Amino acid sequence: MDGRLKVTGQAAYAAEHDAHGAVRGVVHGVIVTSTVGKGRITGIDTRDAAAQRGVLKVISHLNAPKLPYRPFRGVPDPARGERLRIFQDDRVRFFGQPVAVVVAETLEIAQHAASLVKVAYDGERPATDMSSPAASPNQPENYQRGNVDQALQQARTRLAQTYRLGREHHNPMEPHATIARWDGDRLTVWDKTQIVLNTRGDLATVFGIPEESVRVVSPFVGGAFGSALRAWPHVAIAALAAREVRRPVKVVLTRKQMYTGTGFRPVTEHKLTLGADQRGRLTAAVHDIRAETSVYEDYREALMVQGQMTYATPNVRQTYRSIPLDVNTPTWMRGPGAATAAYAIECAMDELAYELGMDPIELRLRNEPDQDPGTGVPFSTRRLRECFRVGSRTVAWDERDPKPRSTREGNWLIGTGVAVATYHTQRAPAQALARLDADGSAIVQCGTSDMGPGTYTSMTQVAADALGLQVPRVRFQLGDSTMPPSPPHGGSMTMASVGSAVQDTCDKLRRQAIRLAVADPGSPLHGASADDVVVGNGRLHLREDLERGETYRQLLARNNRPHLEARGGYTPGDEVERFSTHAYGAVFAQVAVDERLGLVRIRRVLGVYDAGRIINPKLAESQAIGGMVGGIGMALLEHTVTDPRDGRIVNANMADYLVPVNADVPDVNAIYLGGDDRTADPIGVKGLGEVVIVGVAPAIANAVFHATGRRIRELPITAEALL
Ligand code: MOS
Repeated sequence: MDGRLKVTGQAAYAAEHDAHGAVRGVVHGVIVTSTVGKGRITGIDTRDAAAQRGVLKVISHLNAPKLPYRPFRGVPDPARGERLRIFQDDRVRFFGQPVAVVVAETLEIAQHAASLVKVAYDGERPATDMSSPAASPNQPENYQRGNVDQALQQARTRLAQTYRLGREHHNPMEPHATIARWDGDRLTVWDKTQIVLNTRGDLATVFGIPEESVRVVSPFVGGAFGSALRAWPHVAIAALAAREVRRPVKVVLTRKQMYTGTGFRPVTEHKLTLGADQRGRLTAAVHDIRAETSVYEDYREALMVQGQMTYATPNVRQTYRSIPLDVNTPTWMRGPGAATAAYAIECAMDELAYELGMDPIELRLRNEPDQDPGTGVPFSTRRLRECFRVGSRTVAWDERDPKPRSTREGNWLIGTGVAVATYHTQRAPAQALARLDADGSAIVQCGTSDMGPGTYTSMTQVAADALGLQVPRVRFQLGDSTMPPSPPHGGSMTMASVGSAVQDTCDKLRRQAIRLAVADPGSPLHGASADDVVVGNGRLHLREDLERGETYRQLLARNNRPHLEARGGYTPGDEVERFSTHAYGAVFAQVAVDERLGLVRIRRVLGVYDAGRIINPKLAESQAIGGMVGGIGMALLEHTVTDPRDGRIVNANMADYLVPVNADVPDVNAIYLGGDDRTADPIGVKGLGEVVIVGVAPAIANAVFHATGRRIRELPITAEALL
């Protein structure tokens, strides 16, 4: 639905709403960021900057008003206040922290003036590495079942390894941007966000105003991968600056600022110990997990889920420690927690398979549980065996010589690897509004967001289906906090939550029209039972008699109704407590490694997924390709490098931070098993946005081992590591 708008430039992204005429008189804010990683600001000289013609104001902690930070929805949340506590004190908490904003008539003047702001610091060496002696862990999260120590003692085979993953940044194409405008006490922001309601709530908190006084508009998001799930400091800075200069202010993060102005995937370290019996059944697993967070917030992600539910291990112990560092707060990124934990677990399983002399798929099948081994509840649907069956047939897995370094083409060593992907199905309450107009077209709204997976299209399909309309007759709208509420557009929950809300709402609207018809003496359907009436192609008719009926248009015209309207929604029950509900995948990778240069080239990635019902196969495939590209980046390229001396990110640009390009992604394919999961939600989907990245990196790492005989236990796998 939105493809044409995007390729013709008609889709308005956050920084473009002035150009698209939504907001006039916009001036520009450019953020000045700290050049030390920890310490205090001892002075800010803004004279040169302020003297530039066209500069309206330079704002820093020296002149910023004290902000009230009223607790969010009545719940005091110091973390929220701290993250958005812009220009309130002289403390520097991380390198790249905003210390001032210059507001000017044009972007060029603001940029130039910002370069003239002189900031003096009393800086200290920051702790930016989990191995730093200054870093002491927060309270750990623990999980335990069975008797791990005893089981490990009795295990026939034991494996103990440590796996590390480097820091990564989302790097969406569209930089984060906000335009803020005050009309008296009311604030409107055009923002890049995956959840308009959180941005609204955060701004209400910062400025101490009712949420109803804030409107957040975000109709198009040019990629985000989780980076827009929270409001970051620049959002509050735009709003503060707009209030100070009494003009609408636009703030766009530079690519460099994207590395410190938003979150990132945290560094994680996984110490895994596995025990198995002689038949390859896992008897014990210990996961000691450490992950970085900031000193001012305790960010944690779902790093413990897979270790609990993937394999039928009777004895499991997990500890998850977050380590506060002098960095900005990490955040959710592309399968957060799951993608990282799966790398460790699935590589360890591959290592165990080699220790046991067993096929890696066979090892996994031997440990396939009949019910959730953590909770004991049944799986809603779990078709991982089928994923393996389809996948191994497709890639001719059985013809593989399992011996490492067994296949060679000239200087290239060829290897194949496999890994399991899982992602827990999330759902959350959502509401929608649907209106059927007299011309027989419909508008459906929900205040969700879309960062690219095709929400406009998939929701239009669900609505058109429920209303009995052709797709072109339905318009789905999103991205405005005045629309019915939605959960975050993240955690792979949009289709399940918003899709179910849209279906419920459109079902209500259709039934309303049917009721109107059967009660209307002028209708050919008068007197029929509402249950016998169906709608197709905009026309209501008897299920058994296509001739007896009329169109929505005729019905509304005769009844003198300009429109019919319905509100509906979806409230998840306790289904995911009574059933273990996850999306699954078997991921296969083939690589070629140049043994002289250590270069890894991907030859093929195939994912076979059990993600429940697929609403739009084309979008689902596209999403899978995106996930696999992300997984290739994670395995081989993406790595944010920090200078430990001052906390500066040394590759904060898209020349030095490597992401896969077309040449890195030759042949990637997804197969969805389809089917549906009626326990998960009314429309039978399990979520697919994130499961598609989860197993990719370990499948590649396992393929690299198979090709070379070298086990690299740190991501990304670099040429240096392989030489
Ligand atoms: Mo996703 S990391 O929940 O946008």
